[in-house]
Amino acid sequence: MTPFQLTRTLAEDAMDAALRADVRRGLTAHPKTLPPKWFYDAHGSDLFEQITELPEYYPTRAEREILLARSGEIAAALPARTLIELGSGSSDKTRHLLGALTSLETYVPVDVSESALTQAGKALVADFPGLSVHALIADFTAGLSLPATPGPRLLAFLGGTIGNLLPAERAEFLTAVRALLSPGDALLLGTDLVKDERVLVPAYDDAAGVTARFNKNVLTVVNRELGADFDPAAFDHVALWDAEQEWIEMRLRSRVEQTVKIPALDLAVDFAPGEELRTEVSAKFREDGVRAELAAAGLELSHWWTDPRGRFALSLSTAR
Ligand code: SAH
Ligand code: AVI
Repeated sequence: MTPFQLTRTLAEDAMDAALRADVRRGLTAHPKTLPPKWFYDAHGSDLFEQITELPEYYPTRAEREILLARSGEIAAALPARTLIELGSGSSDKTRHLLGALTSLETYVPVDVSESALTQAGKALVADFPGLSVHALIADFTAGLSLPATPGPRLLAFLGGTIGNLLPAERAEFLTAVRALLSPGDALLLGTDLVKDERVLVPAYDDAAGVTARFNKNVLTVVNRELGADFDPAAFDHVALWDAEQEWIEMRLRSRVEQTVKIPALDLAVDFAPGEELRTEVSAKFREDGVRAELAAAGLELSHWWTDPRGRFALSLSTAR
């Protein structure tokens, strides 16, 4: 196998059809919604990387602390020959794992963002000689099929991205992940933890306005791909903590009464002044909840590690 291979399992016309279906469904619903996976074109992936460096956005640093401290233990618990990573983005934190997994032969980063996969893959093959990187452009919520690579396999889902799925989607996702694993394989899951609203909200509403630009990027994606005429300046970025659901919600609030045209869908969407479009949930977790959701999918939690300040957790679980 060549050291870097990029496979598109998501044909561009299938991706276009999925975007059309999501936009039609979401913008004709009450309240209006759009799924967060459409943030991540090349510019959105770049903005996310900027978010990870913001003083208010603690999850990336907290998860990195755990990986730095625990990658040796993770490698001892599962001397994986294949590491699969869903929503791998820049694969930056993953480098700690790649360094510790001494039996590793193949790394399979999976992402919807081609730009993120290409940049990350090229840098990794240069820095980890001997590692073969088989990148997959794929939607991890849509029936993943993985290349036949040697076991044992460690499947990583980092960053707290599982929190961007709604509870029913999470259950379906974890069941699908369980089905990808064989006995002896494991899931390494990053989950952001419930904490004070005064820490959570600024992490999603930073002073420099980078998260606002990331949020509005979904409008730019719909404009480019579907010929829509969203004016990002006509919407305000909103981040709020839902204490009942224990999730952060990102929304875009229409500043005025307006009608947005989406020619590719032959659709005109009316917004009332102050009307909100939900663009993301980011659920925060507790240990018992994570253990129970994993168990419901047939996965048994064996390790639970947090950063010293208890902000973020990494868990390791095995297929029952
Ligand atoms: N794991 C990295 C990146 C997190 S950002 C980190 O911890 O920093 C979330 C990543 O998931 C982005 O790269 C985005 O493109 C990807 N993503 C979001 N939804 C996806 C989906 N449905 N299928 C595949 N990738 C997805
Ligand atoms: C990718 N995901 C875990 C991020 C989060 O924190 O929910 C996405 C994000 N949204 C706003 N800021 C970062």
